[in-house]
Amino acid sequence: MSDDPTYGFDTLQIHAGAKPDPATGARQTPIYQTTAYVFRDADHAAALFNLQEVGYIYSRLTNPTVAVLAERIATLEGGVGAVCCSSGHAAQIMALFPLMGPGLNIVASSRLYGGTVTQFSQTIKRFGWSAKFVDFDDHEAVKAAIDDNTRAVFCEAIANPGGHITDLDAISAISDAAGVPLIVDNTSATPYLCRPIEHGATLVVHSTTKYLTGNGTVTGGCVVDSGKFDWSANDKFPSMSQPEPAYHGLKFAETFGPLAFTFHSIAIGLRDLGMTMNPQAAHYTLMGIETLSLRMERHVENAVKVATWLENDPRVDYVTYAGLPSSPYNKLVPKICPKGAGALFTVAVKGGYDSCVKLVDNLEIFSHVANLGDTRSLIIHSASTTHRQLTTEQQEAAGAGPNIVRLSIGTEDADDIIADLDQALAKATA
Ligand SMILES: Cc1ncc(COP(=O)(O)O)c(C=O)c1O
Repeated sequence: MSDDPTYGFDTLQIHAGAKPDPATGARQTPIYQTTAYVFRDADHAAALFNLQEVGYIYSRLTNPTVAVLAERIATLEGGVGAVCCSSGHAAQIMALFPLMGPGLNIVASSRLYGGTVTQFSQTIKRFGWSAKFVDFDDHEAVKAAIDDNTRAVFCEAIANPGGHITDLDAISAISDAAGVPLIVDNTSATPYLCRPIEHGATLVVHSTTKYLTGNGTVTGGCVVDSGKFDWSANDKFPSMSQPEPAYHGLKFAETFGPLAFTFHSIAIGLRDLGMTMNPQAAHYTLMGIETLSLRMERHVENAVKVATWLENDPRVDYVTYAGLPSSPYNKLVPKICPKGAGALFTVAVKGGYDSCVKLVDNLEIFSHVANLGDTRSLIIHSASTTHRQLTTEQQEAAGAGPNIVRLSIGTEDADDIIADLDQALAKATA
């Protein structure tokens, strides 16, 4: 048993990529806490460095514990391969790195995690890359923003913080027509709720820090390769389709076919950028991922109850949860995330900034933290924290204005979560 794709999600989340340890029979995937791997002989070493044989050289590139996690996530997402990285933000750079160069741009949704907006609007400029931010509900605007220098279209399946759902089929039709890959951040949805590759995504990125690990212990990221993009169809992706000087002239698309992106990411991305996941982090995420479907079901069930209660509370102006029939994104749920709209959404609290601050200070079960996707219920006032670096216009566009708090609904008893919100709202709006 390992990766038979006919197995169900619940089976694959426990078994995909893993076998009993060949050396000891250990049933759980061991933490291979080693930097390097002994070569059988000089020919073996040369074959590994030439990528003629797949194996382990040095843990900046690959490590057996991390490899199990990469294969597990690739299988759950329906991809051909994956590369794990040190964080979700590292995964985003790793996804863009083989595609981009100075003067080139990406077209990105204006509804993204605030840290990603900062990474794309500020930091990538130092590489000579740029991002154009567009409302991804406006498909004509997405089309119009793509130009000859665009090398990727980027969005979140369920957007942080508002929980808005992106019509991935419509966006992938646009990126396909333009001959550029669609990269989908599937952090908030997870492959249990949404499988972006089935909706046309070329690459799927994750902050494994969140639901995939699920227990708030380690940061990590992953890029999943659909294997479906033809990198040689035009001359836009020379690092994939032409002889790559950084790997003695290897042509990745010709040599590795559908696995070209995955091999490029390991052989050049991890080798030269060094954004490697360590085996301890992979271990914690492997522990978490075994219960992903069970947790996501409870997250969604609780989110529906809590969002419904909040929507009917007079101390609240509105709730953005796409799982509510009142949400304009509700109609996308059956198509994009048929098992539910996740457990992340924002709430506009009457009384604005001051009420939000009092609310976060008075909650007892909820933790006030810059994280999401934990089994614990979490809250944050985005405008004063995660989205603080953004302009007011960017905050509003991202759904993180001063009167807004973001909730990540945990797996505790829904009645207890609601009672906690009730008592803290009473103090916040007294
Ligand atoms: C949707 C989304 N993508 C990416 C990231 C970045 O992930 P990390 O914090 O693991 O770098 C986050 C972090 O909150 C996120 O919410």
